[in-house]
Amino acid sequence: MSIRRLRVQGIRNLQDVDLELASVNVFFGANGSGKTSLLEAVYVLGSGKSFRAPRLDPVITHQSPECVVHAAITDSHGSSIPMGLARQRNGEFQGRIQGRTVQNAAELARCLPLQLINSDTFQLLEGGPKSRRQFLDWGVFHVEQGFHAVWLDVQRALRQRNALLRHARLAPDQLEAWDIHLSARAEELDAFRRGYFDAFYPQFTATLGELASLEDVDLSYQRGWDKETPLKDVLRESLSRDHERGFTVQGPHRADIRVRVKGQSAEQVLSRGQQKLVVCAMKVAQARVFSANRQRDCVFLVDDLPSELDRRHRSALAALLSSLGCQVLVSCVDRADLEAVWPSVPEDQRRMFHVEQGRFTHVSWH
Ligand SMILES: Nc1ncnc2c1ncn2[C@@H]1O[C@H](COP(=O)(O)OP(=O)(O)OP(=O)(O)O)[C@@H](O)[C@H]1O
Ligand SMILES: [Mg+2]
Repeated sequence: MSIRRLRVQGIRNLQDVDLELASVNVFFGANGSGKTSLLEAVYVLGSGKSFRAPRLDPVITHQSPECVVHAAITDSHGSSIPMGLARQRNGEFQGRIQGRTVQNAAELARCLPLQLINSDTFQLLEGGPKSRRQFLDWGVFHVEQGFHAVWLDVQRALRQRNALLRHARLAPDQLEAWDIHLSARAEELDAFRRGYFDAFYPQFTATLGELASLEDVDLSYQRGWDKETPLKDVLRESLSRDHERGFTVQGPHRADIRVRVKGQSAEQVLSRGQQKLVVCAMKVAQARVFSANRQRDCVFLVDDLPSELDRRHRSALAALLSSLGCQVLVSCVDRADLEAVWPSVPEDQRRMFHVEQGRFTHVSWH
C-alpha cells in the first residue's frame, strides 16, 4: 500500500506539485518552504481533514478557489487505485476513489490508512484522554469492520441521553429506553477496544524495546466506567448527578489509554526526546497490528523526524521505519540529519526532494 504518484494544487504554498514517490521519501528545505504542507496534502486526501487546522479554509492557497489532491495508490496486490479529492472555498467537497464518488471521510481513511508523527503527536502523552481515545479508535476502526457502526450508534445514543438529561423534568421511560440501548452498544464498543488493546500492547512493548532502553513504561486500557460494574447499573446510580450536570459523566466516551512510568504520568517523568520515542513506538505498534490484521500497510507521514532526537535515536527510528516495509514520507530541515542515519535502502526505493517556495526538486541521495 503506497502512493506512487502524488499531485497537489492549491494547498498552502504548493501551487502545482507532481511527484513520483518511492518507499522512502525525504523532503528537506528551509523553514516555510512547504514540507509540512506536502504531508498535510496527503493527510487531507486520506482523511478529508487537516492536522493543523480544524477547517480546510486556511489550508487552501490564498486567492485560490479550491485545493485538489490526487494520488495513484498501489495496493498490496500491485493494482493501481486512483484517488482524488477537491475542496472548494465555498465548502463544496468532492472525493473519488476509482471513479466512484466518496460518501464520507471513513472511505478515504480505509483507502489510504495513514500514520502521522508530528509535534502534535506529543498530545498522546500531554493531552487529555480525547487524543488517546482517538488513537485507540483509529486502530480498532481499521482492524474491526463492525466497529464504526457501533461507534456511531453509541455517539447517537449519548446525544439523545444528554438531550433528555438537560430537560428540567426527567422523562424516566424515555431515559430508560436509551440507557438500555446505550449500555448494550457500549459493552460492544468496550469489547472491540479491549480486544484491540490486547493485541496492541505486546507490539508496543516490543517496538519500544527496539527504539530505546526505557524501562517501566506501562500502558493500560480504561473503558470509561467501573470495570466491575455493567454500564446500565452505573448509569442508574449516577442518574441524579448526570441530571444535575446535564450530561453523562461515565461511559465509553471517557475511555482512555493510561501511559505511566514507574506508576507516574509519563509526561511528568520522561524527557522530551523520550516522550517522542514513546509516541513513535505507539504509532509504529499500531501500524504493525494493522498490517498483521489487514495484510496491508499504512503510509507514514513523519514531520521533522530529527527534532528532539539525538543521532542514536534518529538512527533507531529510521531503522524501525525502514524495517516496517511501509511507505514513509519524512521531512527535515537539513538533509544531512537524515542521510547520515537512514539505513541503506536500494536506490530505486528511496527518493530525496529539495523543497523551495512550494516547489520540489528530485535530488540524488549522497
Ligand atoms: N493558505 C495559504 N496560502 C499560501 N501560503 C500559505 C498558506 N498557509 C500557509 N502558507 C505558507 O506556506 C508556507 C509553507 O509552510 P510549511 O508549514 O509547509 O513550511 P515548512 O517547510 O514545513 O517549514 P518549517 O521548517 O518551518 O516547519 C509558509 O511560508 C506559510 O506561511
Ligand atoms: Mg514544517
